[in-house]
Amino acid sequence: MNDLPRQFGRYLLQQRLGRGGMAEVFRATVDGPGGFSRPVAIKRILPEYSQDEWFTRMIADEARIVSRLAHPNIVQILDAGEVDGSWYIAFELVDGTDLFQLLQRIYSRGQALPQAYACHIAAEVAAGLDHAHSRRDEHGQPLGIVHRDVSPQNVLLSWLGEVKLGDFGIARARQRTSETQAGTIKGKIYYMSPEQARGETVDHRSDLFAVGILLYETLCTQPLYDDDDALHLLDTVAAGRWHWPSDAELKIPAPLRQVVTTALAPDLNARYQSGRALREALLAAMDTCGLRADRDAFGAWLRDQNQVPDDRPPETSSGTGERRWYSSHRVQAAVDKASLPQQVEMTRPHLTPPLRAMAPAQPVGPPTAMPPQLLKPSLPPIAHPQPPDDWQMPDVVLPAPRHLSAVDDGSKPASLGLLAATTLVWLLAIVLGTLAALIARE
Ligand SMILES: Nc1ncnc2c1ncn2[C@@H]1O[C@H](COP(=O)(O)OP(=O)(O)O)[C@@H](O)[C@H]1O
Ligand SMILES: [Mg+2]
Repeated sequence: MNDLPRQFGRYLLQQRLGRGGMAEVFRATVDGPGGFSRPVAIKRILPEYSQDEWFTRMIADEARIVSRLAHPNIVQILDAGEVDGSWYIAFELVDGTDLFQLLQRIYSRGQALPQAYACHIAAEVAAGLDHAHSRRDEHGQPLGIVHRDVSPQNVLLSWLGEVKLGDFGIARARQRTSETQAGTIKGKIYYMSPEQARGETVDHRSDLFAVGILLYETLCTQPLYDDDDALHLLDTVAAGRWHWPSDAELKIPAPLRQVVTTALAPDLNARYQSGRALREALLAAMDTCGLRADRDAFGAWLRDQNQVPDDRPPETSSGTGERRWYSSHRVQAAVDKASLPQQVEMTRPHLTPPLRAMAPAQPVGPPTAMPPQLLKPSLPPIAHPQPPDDWQMPDVVLPAPRHLSAVDDGSKPASLGLLAATTLVWLLAIVLGTLAALIARE
């Protein structure tokens, strides 16, 4: 996209900051009277999907959910609306970087994130999540917000040292209109909780598991899963299988390891039960270990990092941990991309009635290519133009986990169908035979 700067309603889009499967984000300014000019971030549906009711509903839901949140550790919404039929959200601009870009930058130099800042970032994200998780509606009912996509790309870091969680694009809330709660798998597979990867209904403790992953990754300088095989990744995540690197005891103080272990407990009830509990445990552990971090110090460090040019491309990074981090994130990108059309397929049946009427009979996902190895060739097409409200995701649509999907035992549904058809024919024959005998007797 090189037609920038460009006017978009009352916003002047200046630079593209990011692009995902559904939306793109721009640094922009909005001008007002008397020389007033404010920098903002504009997130808008990709032009190719701007007329798609489904994506429109997704971004409108994001706006609705984020408008309920006001916290220093959450990217604040300023405005939402439509320009030339294309929906957008205006957010406060977080002038800085995101955690993914930061890690890329420092790992490319063979360095690590200082432990104090790794903990600081996780503690701030936990505070933002605690706010989102505990929101209630005007009648005092919990909103039931679950972010479901806590990952380095969605943790924004300002040059002033602020840490803000963004991208509630696939967050779940009780009043979300574009889906029901059962059976959907959404989010980046590497950052899913075991229950999320199993396709079970998730609650706020899934987000806290993801904070545990962020903490593990930044403290260990390597991904939580060394499973680079996309086919087995969901399996590994769903089983909650992870381990410490061999040098963890030397490098990471025991109190910090204890926090990570609790945050990453496969059993929901053994985890921290709130963002606040996680944050408090982490701050206490930092204290015990003599680790200090605050916004100003972190901001100064962050600005320093930005001054130093990247001298080596990621691929030539020296440490094995860093190299693994890169290769895993490449796998992650492939898997996330691959799962996107399925997310759309799985969630389209949940359209609310007026939109459901507009939805095409055959769900159409974005034209993202699915790596052939992730597709079971004989997967039956899923036709659900008017699914009942209690529709559950059939377990044949998931690509990876052998224990969840029909990759290994895909013949079962077919053979069951055959059995049922044969039984039906036999029953019909018996009934017809009996009828014929009765008629003959009369
Ligand atoms: N308010 C913001 N300020 C600055 N950068 C942002 C802002 N929101 C998003 N970004 C950048 O754009 C990227 C994509 O934004 P995000 O909301 O996560 O969209 P997507 O749904 O496509 O992942 C982020 O990873 C971040 O780098
Ligand atoms: Mg994002």
